[in-house]
This record gives sequence, structure tokens and C-alpha cells, in this order.
Amino acid sequence: MAYRDLREFIRALEKNHELQRISLEVDPVLEIAEFADRAVKRGGPALLFEKPKGSSIPVLINGFASTRKMELALEVDSLQEVAGRIVELLEMRMPEGLMGKIKMLPKLADLGSVFPRVVSKGPCQEVVRTEGFSLHDYPILQCWPGDGGRFITLPLVFSKSPDTGKRNCGMYRMQIYDERTAGMHWQTHKQGAEHYRRMRHHGQTRMDVAVAIGADPATMYSAILPLPPDLDEMMIAGFLRQSPVEMVKCQTSDLEVPANAEIVLEGYVELGELRTEGPFGDHTGFYSLADEYPVFHVTCITQRKDPIYATTIVGPPPMEDYYMGKAVERIFLPLMRLQLPEVRDIAMPAEGIFHNLILVSIRKSYPGHARKVMHAIWGLGQAMFSKVIVVVDEDVDVQNTREVVWKALNNIDPERDIQFVMGPIDSLDHSSRLPNYGSKMGVDATRKWPTEGFTRPWPGVIEMSAEVKRRVDELWKKAGL
Ligand SMILES: Cc1cc2nc3c(=O)[nH]c(=O)nc-3n(C[C@H](O)[C@H](O)[C@H](O)COP(=O)(O)O)c2cc1C
Repeated sequence: MAYRDLREFIRALEKNHELQRISLEVDPVLEIAEFADRAVKRGGPALLFEKPKGSSIPVLINGFASTRKMELALEVDSLQEVAGRIVELLEMRMPEGLMGKIKMLPKLADLGSVFPRVVSKGPCQEVVRTEGFSLHDYPILQCWPGDGGRFITLPLVFSKSPDTGKRNCGMYRMQIYDERTAGMHWQTHKQGAEHYRRMRHHGQTRMDVAVAIGADPATMYSAILPLPPDLDEMMIAGFLRQSPVEMVKCQTSDLEVPANAEIVLEGYVELGELRTEGPFGDHTGFYSLADEYPVFHVTCITQRKDPIYATTIVGPPPMEDYYMGKAVERIFLPLMRLQLPEVRDIAMPAEGIFHNLILVSIRKSYPGHARKVMHAIWGLGQAMFSKVIVVVDEDVDVQNTREVVWKALNNIDPERDIQFVMGPIDSLDHSSRLPNYGSKMGVDATRKWPTEGFTRPWPGVIEMSAEVKRRVDELWKKAGL
């Protein structure tokens, strides 16, 4: 059974000894962040601060901050199960014969459960405030000393495309400016920013936006997924939780939000209005620089009677977002392999902050194959941000960074094997020559072939013979080792 809401997930974390309640008064300004950083670095539990200083609303942090918590969030024993369900879906073919077709029915019924369902009422609207509300009533964190202020860090930001009417839900942090306004940090490559541009193109002046904070974990998680534009995150959330996401219409706009959310901010972005956002201690482990971003005006807050505020911090890796990203890596591999079946595995080590380093193993079939894979990855949605892609042969385990460093560096003639390209760069990159535009590097660390102009012999990797290993296994014990 899918979690009904955030609190049911919190109970599951607690039952699995993955949650610690903290009844001491702790300050959302810096102190909660320091607790969370220490906890994640030690593989510790999620934290529920029952008495954040200055607010009566409890704060949940690190709910996704380990492989086990991600598995609990997606209700699986291994993330491989989710990938397996995707493979099953992709391989679904109309079976032969009546019996085959009948056996297929439950799977088709399962598919029906992915579509979100609009309901007339939801706990996220137990309290509706169109007046007398303030963002300062919420225990919103300042994460790092150099931050420009307090930031909502786990928001589900909903908007609609003016062209297709389709919904987008993205996780874009929001800096609190005052009681009723906040920054809207959708980076230029993201769907929220595209909706904004399209609305300006159509001559509109305001863009309705709704922000849900805290919901069942699969729904929250779906906001970070690098999906193609116009693919509804709420449908993917339904697939992940195997039960439809219930949506409720906002009080002041035509947008819909998850009915089980804890807190919802309804409002608009005035097209053309920009304000300085940041700096912010970011997931690169550096402060991202202040920049101009749109402003979100809150016109109404709806919430549960006793909401829980869900948040996270990012910073020097590994942080909670590393585990969220690792799950993306595992879940999206089968989808990547649809387009690139030669890819055996991919890995994004924590220190590479996802976009800085992607390790890919391939089954090499023709000259230049590694370079084809690099270019394909640079052309694949948000994988365009990959600053360094290292392609290795399929016998290299990319989950083992030491093995990759060892074999890749042995295999390259740098001038020959490194490919530089220009293109879009992650907005958070502080080193590119221009914001959002710069160079990327691909490293072909595969074994080189004569058809690629390499005619010298290529040595094998050193390995002891199996027979000697067996003999020494026995002698080892006798030697008292
Ligand atoms: C904790 C966390 C915070 C994030 N903050 C931002 C942000 O402030 N701005 C942004 O553009 N992307 C941010 N992201 C990444 C986006 O959520 C991610 O790229 C997502 O796929 C965007 O959705 P979209 O493709 O619908 O735009 C964040 C991700 C996480 C896990």
C-alpha cells in the first residue's frame, strides 16, 4: 500500500529505526543544517525537529538521506526493483492466445493506477488563508553562514505550459524575501523557466504558480526527476507509488496540487520582474553566486491543521541529494539503454556532484563508439550538463571508482583520447567562461583498436591463474594467515 502522506512515511522511517525525534529547541538558522550535515555524513537517521526555534511547526530533514531511506521512500527492498518494473513495462508486448491476454490484465490494471486523479477535497486545504499569513510563520532554514537568507529547499513547484496546458512539477529552491514574496530559482534549462518564457512570448503578464511542501515521498521525489518536457511528474509519481496521486484544485488558480501535501503556497510570478537571488551554499559544495531570478508572490496559503515542514540542505558531498540522485541513476538506466543499448552501466560518484563526472561502461562494437556515446549523453535531456564523461569498456565496473581511475588512466593517450565540446553548462558551474555556456570533456578510455589507428599490441590486465589461487587458498589457512 502506498504511503498516504508524509506522516505515514515518517512513521515507516521510525519503525525501521531510520528516524530520530529531537525535542530540544534547535534554530532553523544554521543549527538544523549542522545537525543534518553531521547526521548524513555518519549514515545517521532522518531528523524530526519537534521544537524549531520561532515556530510551532516540526521540521523533517534527511528523509531520503541514505540508500535504505530511499528504498523506504519508494517502498522497495532494492532500487533495482523500480528499474525492473520499468524494464517490464518497456518489454510489455501483446501476448499470444487468450490465456496470455488474460494473464496480462492485472498488469494493464496496474498501468491505470499511474494517472493522477482529481478529488474535491484534500487535507492540504484544511486551513485556507488568503489574508493574515506570513512566510515567516514557517521554520524555513538558513543553511550556511554565507547564504543570502532563508530558503525553502524541498518545494514542489507547479506550473502549466501555455502551449499544451500540460503540467510541470520541478524542485526549485525559493529564497524568502519577506512575508509574501520569495525567489523562484528555476534555472534557465528547466521546465518552469520554459513555461515562463512561453508565457512572455504569448504576451501574458502573470504566471500562476503553486508550491507544495511535504507530500508522500514518491510524489516529492518525482519533482527532481529529469523527465522529458510535458511528461507529467504526477503520473511518474503514480507509477513509483503504484497508486494514483490525488490532486486537488487550488483555491485561487486553476493549478492542481497533491491533496496530501502538508503546506501549499498559491500565487503568481509577475513576468519580467526579477530580483537578486542568492548566494546559496549549493550542492557543488561551493556557494552559488547571487543572480537575477523571478519573484514569486504568495496570494494564499493552504495547509493541514498541524503541518510538518519538509526540508533538506545541500553542501559538500555526500548530502541527502546524493542519495536522491543515485536513485535517479539506477531508475533511469533502463530508459537510457532504450536509446543506447550499448551502455552497460553508468555511475555518478558523489564527489562529481552528478553533472561534473559521469562514468559509463559500454559494449564497444565499432571504431569511435565511445565518442558516439559521449555525444548521445550530451544530447539527452539534463545529461547535457555532464562536464566530464569517461567511457570505459564493459569489463570495467563503473560503480568502483578506484577501478575506473586505474584502468582509464592506463588506457588513455590524452591528446588522442580527450574530446572537448562546447555547449550548455549547468547554471551552478562557477568556472565556465560564461554563465550557462562553456566546454565539456569526454574521455575515451576504452581499449583502442587497429581500426581506430592503434596498431601496437594492447596488454591484458594482470590476473593470477585460478589453479594457483585455489592452491594458495588451502595453503593460506595452513600458513595460519
Ligand atoms: C534538493 C534539490 C534542490 C534543487 N534545487 C534546484 C533549484 O533551485 N533550481 C533548479 O533549477 N533545479 C534544482 N534542482 C534540480 C531540479 O529539481 C531537477 O533538475 C528537476 O529535474 C527539474 O525539473 P524540470 O525538468 O521539470 O524542470 C534541485 C534538486 C534537488 C534534489
